[in-house]
Amino acid sequence: MNRRSDTHWVKRRFDRITPYYPWIERLLLVPQNARRRAVEGLQLGPGGHVLVVGCGQGPSLEALSKLVGPEGSVVGLDLSGKMLQRAQRIVEQKALSNVELLQQNLFQHTPEEPVDAVFFEFSLSSFGDPHRGLKHTWSHLKVGGWMVVLDGQLPPKLRWLTRPLMPLIRWTLERTVLGDTDMRPIEALEQLGSEVHLEWFRRRTYFVAQLLKSQ
Ligand SMILES: C[S@@+](CC[C@H](N)C(=O)[O-])C[C@H]1O[C@@H](n2cnc3c(N)ncnc32)[C@H](O)[C@@H]1O
Repeated sequence: MNRRSDTHWVKRRFDRITPYYPWIERLLLVPQNARRRAVEGLQLGPGGHVLVVGCGQGPSLEALSKLVGPEGSVVGLDLSGKMLQRAQRIVEQKALSNVELLQQNLFQHTPEEPVDAVFFEFSLSSFGDPHRGLKHTWSHLKVGGWMVVLDGQLPPKLRWLTRPLMPLIRWTLERTVLGDTDMRPIEALEQLGSEVHLEWFRRRTYFVAQLLKSQ
């Protein structure tokens, strides 16, 4: 069984790495402009309602909160209570009154009303079954709403370098951010049946995928 399907295990993993998470992000050279582009891709305006899947320590909560304004709402969902504690600090320090944080498994979450946008923020590749996660949230997205997936993969042009290092890369990812090197995130997205707009960063290591739910 893919251990990423075991939510207790995933929760424990992220609880454990919470204090080191900002360092891991730096080591992985996560491009901050990709985060900005992802937030823009959600096409939110005042009064919008957005669900952030796997919001972790909340790197985008402030930007999202400003975009939707006092009439809108941002729901940040995460399995890990420790990651959410850090997000809660941002919410309090910045007085983000339109942000709600929920410690919940995505598959147990059903919003009261369909949302205007869904944001998988570096969370899709830590799912055991990405297609199931995408399908579940797609059903909670309004027609005319946008789904944005920010995630990463091994850079294809550096395969000559990564291939011999695969055991080490797998071992490291399994002990840190749980990125699944065997996962095909773009293929999983294409199965939703909408056109996938892609923007790449750092030589195709990171991407922002944007999909409009048109019907
Ligand atoms: C790699 S972290 C990304 C955190 C943050 N969004 C960021 O960009 O830094 C992935 C997050 O997804 C959460 N996660 C994984 N599976 C989940 C699930 N089934 N339901 C809710 N959250 C989940 C983890 O707890 C973790 O905090």
